[in-house]
Amino acid sequence: MWGMIATWRMAVEGITRGAEMLKESGDAGDAIEAAIRQVEDFPYYKSVGYGGLPNEEMEVEMDAAYMDGSTLDIGAVAAIRDFANPVSIARRLSREKVNSMLVAEGAEKFAHKEGFERKNMLTDRAKAHYRKRVKEMAAQAAAEELKPYSGHDTVGMACLDGMGKMAAATSTSGLFMKKKGRVGDSPISGSGFYADSRKGAASATGLGEDLMKGCISYEAVRLMGEGIHPQEACETAVNRLDRELRERRGEAGDISIIAMNPKGEWGAATNIEGFSFAVVTEELEPTVYLVTREEKGRCTYEKASEEWMEHYMKTRMAPIEE
Ligand code: GLY
Repeated sequence: MWGMIATWRMAVEGITRGAEMLKESGDAGDAIEAAIRQVEDFPYYKSVGYGGLPNEEMEVEMDAAYMDGSTLDIGAVAAIRDFANPVSIARRLSREKVNSMLVAEGAEKFAHKEGFERKNMLTDRAKAHYRKRVKEMAAQAAAEELKPYSGHDTVGMACLDGMGKMAAATSTSGLFMKKKGRVGDSPISGSGFYADSRKGAASATGLGEDLMKGCISYEAVRLMGEGIHPQEACETAVNRLDRELRERRGEAGDISIIAMNPKGEWGAATNIEGFSFAVVTEELEPTVYLVTREEKGRCTYEKASEEWMEHYMKTRMAPIEE
């Protein structure tokens, strides 16, 4: 059995590419890297790679990570600028025994030395979003609190190949209008991602500051390691963290997670409305699902309709009214 599951509708073209590789006995690491690169390269996704929205200084600072579930190798970059595919730099770093997580100039220096493609990641479209937000903020008495951009933030994936190897990877430009140097959960092991070929792999999306409070990806993998089905593992991890945050702090940020186990079974859960994910397995063609959170935090999902898929792309590509 092989398969891939990923956060958000934006990942479906990526996992389709990954599935082509897995079908041909491809390696989980190669497939997940190719899948995330596809999302990073698409200019209309506002929270990942090229076209990602900038920080408050109008710079696109990106976070990404890669984890090999068999060796437990981890590589990550944070607050890196001007490189086309942060996930590939993260994967390259995962082969280092030390210095495997690099930030900002250090990460850029490493990427340059290793010959990774440089690219100005700030598009005209992202600049227009920035100008619009600056105006909106100026119009308010106090600048509004930062929110993960329309809920569409990290692309995070879990992958199982035909040899039983699992991998997890993430990539994001983080919160729109974040402070320079702010790092979210996506490059942080156990929070944004975790993979263990013996237990399963998971990745999270939402408000990084809150996701890190529960090391939620590790928690989902730990639960799968106890024999719990990925769906129940995702729901338990989300609901526990959501409850703890509400009890102790009065509120919880956006929390969503996807997971797959070594049998290729999968699950997804969220504490918000509007979470979507994409999944493909040997038995299931690439499919986008929309999640509904029911009573007591149970999550159900239904396949996204053709109309929903069309509307999604139309709104992503619509002109920006400044
Ligand atoms: N979940 C992505 C971030 O908070 O940056």
